[in-house]
Amino acid sequence: MDYWIEKARPEHIPEMIEFWKKIDGLGLGRSDEPWALEIMLAHNPDSCLIAWHGDTMIGTVLGGFDGRRGMIYHLAVLPSWRRCKLGKVLLERCLAVLQQRGAAKVNLFVYRDNSGARSFYEELGWVLREDIQAYSWDYMVSLEKTLTKSG
Ligand SMILES: CC(C)(COP(=O)(O)OP(=O)(O)OC[C@H]1O[C@@H](n2cnc3c(N)ncnc32)[C@H](O)[C@@H]1OP(=O)(O)O)[C@@H](O)C(=O)NCCC(=O)NCCS
Repeated sequence: MDYWIEKARPEHIPEMIEFWKKIDGLGLGRSDEPWALEIMLAHNPDSCLIAWHGDTMIGTVLGGFDGRRGMIYHLAVLPSWRRCKLGKVLLERCLAVLQQRGAAKVNLFVYRDNSGARSFYEELGWVLREDIQAYSWDYMVSLEKTLTKSG
């Protein structure tokens, strides 16, 4: 296929954000502010990747390593490029870097109703964890609670 893959750099961030806004199935939040993405790229310069067709962004993946586990975010392929194995290639390249850095296991979140992504991961051998539930700590929500209590 006529595409190439390179490491994401800070100057790509505005275009990455515009790209993700067009992709159903991705949740964009505070971690997708440019300053937050700069931190992500600085910590993970080799596992955040972009696929290009000419100068058109056609795919992305953000791979993070925290010193113990790897985490996959924003694996996305432009609809017109889907089912050409680009998602698989991006994911495999990212996984190879995470493994090299020492990640023994890699996790990711998928929205329950994102049946396309779930089929994709299951086809590639990812295991759906039925034995755990995901908990999150949201600094903004806890700050609001504290302010409400003290106010
Ligand atoms: C999930 C996604 C990245 C897959 O990218 P892709 O390039 O189309 O995937 P691939 O071509 O590498 O697919 C590999 C295999 O996975 C399976 N697969 C992929 N998409 C599928 C779908 N929508 N339904 C069922 N199976 C699917 C197929 O078995 C496919 O092989 P095949 O085409 O020979 O049958 C893409 O659909 C996407 O960008 N979705 C929106 C964003 C998203 O939900 N990302 C995941 C967030 S966690």
